[in-house]
Amino acid sequence: MNKTKIAVFVSGGGTNLQALIDASKRGEIPSGEIALVLASNDKAYALTRAAENNIPSAVVKRKDYESQIAYEEAVKGVLAEKGIEMIVLAGFMTILSENFTSAYPKRIVNVHPSLIPSFCGAGFYGLRVHEAALEYGVKVTGATVHYVNEIPDGGEIILQKAVEIQEGDTAEVLQKRVMEQAEWILLPKAVELVANRLQKERG
Ligand code: GAR
Repeated sequence: MNKTKIAVFVSGGGTNLQALIDASKRGEIPSGEIALVLASNDKAYALTRAAENNIPSAVVKRKDYESQIAYEEAVKGVLAEKGIEMIVLAGFMTILSENFTSAYPKRIVNVHPSLIPSFCGAGFYGLRVHEAALEYGVKVTGATVHYVNEIPDGGEIILQKAVEIQEGDTAEVLQKRVMEQAEWILLPKAVELVANRLQKERG
């Protein structure tokens, strides 16, 4: 059976992309292949990771388009060209509107560095999520992989994993622990689950 063609959308360091590449090499994503890395800016280190692993990449910048719709149509065009069937948002910091998300129902997944519904939604991304968790004083946080719909961080949850907060944690220390103990483990598992479902649906 053909593998599900996956695009990974990135904006920064791309450690979650790396986790997917490594899991794929270990044979842990047998139902899917990373066929494209799409970056929101040309400085994203994730692009180097793509190049090092011979994965095709593209850069599409929101500021190069006069409207959100024009930007999203350009992204859709790149995906169609590569026959992409599934999208993984892995630290992707550009907003995608309903015009885009409704074109890929239950085909877009996102990794978020908290236990949704805590510390999520508009304004909660990257280090800010961990700062908010520490500020609130929760003792347990974690990561969530969920489907993406028109509500920011509001789509159906696929997998979650809890991570303990330790005394003296800074946002940076906590971010690293959440990545190591949750995100990098959960994301490949969730991607295989969805890629496998899409493969079966395709028949
Ligand atoms: C990750 O912690 C990811 O969960 C988070 O950004 C980081 C990207 O790191 N995403 C969000 O906050 C989305 N709301 P990476 O580029 O090294 O994978």
